[in-house]
Amino acid sequence: MKRLAVHGTVLATVDRGSGIPLLLVHGFPLDHTMWDAQIEALCDRCRVIAPDLRGFGQSDVTEGTVTMEQLADDLAGLLDALEVGEPVVLCGLSMGGYVAWPFWRRHAARLRGLVLCDTRAAADTPEAAAGRRETAERVLREGPAALAESMIPRLLAPETLQLRPEVAERLRRVILASDRQGIAAAARGMAQRPDFTPHLAEIRCPTLVLVGAQDVISTVAEMRGIAERIPGARLVCIERAGHMAPVERPAELSAAIRAFLDRLTGSGTATGS
Ligand code: MLT
Repeated sequence: MKRLAVHGTVLATVDRGSGIPLLLVHGFPLDHTMWDAQIEALCDRCRVIAPDLRGFGQSDVTEGTVTMEQLADDLAGLLDALEVGEPVVLCGLSMGGYVAWPFWRRHAARLRGLVLCDTRAAADTPEAAAGRRETAERVLREGPAALAESMIPRLLAPETLQLRPEVAERLRRVILASDRQGIAAAARGMAQRPDFTPHLAEIRCPTLVLVGAQDVISTVAEMRGIAERIPGARLVCIERAGHMAPVERPAELSAAIRAFLDRLTGSGTATGS
């Protein structure tokens, strides 16, 4: 991984392949390794940039609160540090999608396309925001173990949990290795994020919306609502996946992204809108 100084911190990132830049933005409380299969599958087609966000994986940690705006600005700074001048396709899952919204607002000229996986546009309810602040305090006190145990059953489809325990184990290892200050700062930042729903209709870049058919965190209905509001967006439902299709159904997810890239660049054999 490369380590780059960006906006007063150090971010670690995978940077592989060449072609159209594809920026893969991980969910909470994970790191770039959730995209390992997509990095392998797509680096023959594009320049895959898969960072660990501030506070996660091998990137440096900032204490306190890290907003989604800060994370979006970090990504723009990372692209500068990598000398990526060309607009990118930003593919964000869940918290990665929360970061995609301010990236679009603040760095729209850098966007060639959006892939929104299992995310939400709405802000947290006051109760949900309070729950995140409690999670932050608890993780600071007790570490990430309890968070791993409460989140993993909600991240994965029942079939994945029953038949592929190694997938849950992989996520557990990443969560347990996460820095408690990093988790707390992002949890507080997510609690502060504004409602993006009114802006969905203003998005003009080509957009693909992906959702696991059994996602209980960002449901199919919620993702359909996002796709219906973004002009021209296309919704693809990944069967037999929960919130984490990149690790549950990696080949299907990579194929959907590849087909989107092919449509965007006018190459390949993909069809459809
Ligand atoms: C994620 O996968 O990033 C989280 O589920 C986001 C959230 O807690 O809202």
